[in-house]
Amino acid sequence: MILRGGRRIALLDLDTDRDVAIARRRVGDAMAKRGCRELMQTRFVTAVSEIARNAIVHGGGGRLAIYEFPGNRKIGIECIDEGPGIADVKQAMTDGFSTRDSLGRGLGGAKRLSHEFEIETHGETGTIVRMTGLQNTR
Ligand SMILES: Nc1ncnc2c1ncn2[C@@H]1O[C@H](COP(=O)(O)OP(=O)(O)OP(=O)(O)O)[C@@H](O)[C@H]1O
Ligand SMILES: [Mg+2]
Repeated sequence: MILRGGRRIALLDLDTDRDVAIARRRVGDAMAKRGCRELMQTRFVTAVSEIARNAIVHGGGGRLAIYEFPGNRKIGIECIDEGPGIADVKQAMTDGFSTRDSLGRGLGGAKRLSHEFEIETHGETGTIVRMTGLQNTR
């Protein structure tokens, strides 16, 4: 589990687009406050956006927890929803695959933009995505 050793610093609801904007800002602020370079911040915030949006669009809404890692230049998130889950994670991760006639680049993009990436999904209990981002200091 990639968030081992982390300490939760925020827990946000994800129900609307506005919640995605709030989550973006909260993660960005947490990284900036710890001296993160802007590029690293933008990359990880973009990844978080995709995952948060998926929880809303595909998972019917969810929650986002943000983690810090004391003594470690890393930030983490856990995004949980109680939607239908993902039947085939490998297929879902493939660029261009979408069940919503969208671009299908969200999951693949988020993985590329994060440092560590993990998905747990089991049918009825929904989906959990965990990611970490590095925060190289200025
Ligand atoms: N939280 C989730 N719950 C259920 N299914 C999901 C979830 N996240 C992703 N999926 C499934 O994985 C597919 C791929 O997700 P991905 O984010 O890559 O593309 P997308 O959301 O369809 O399009 P976009 O490029 O706009 O993000 C989705 O179409 C959906 O079927
Ligand atoms: Mg998506």
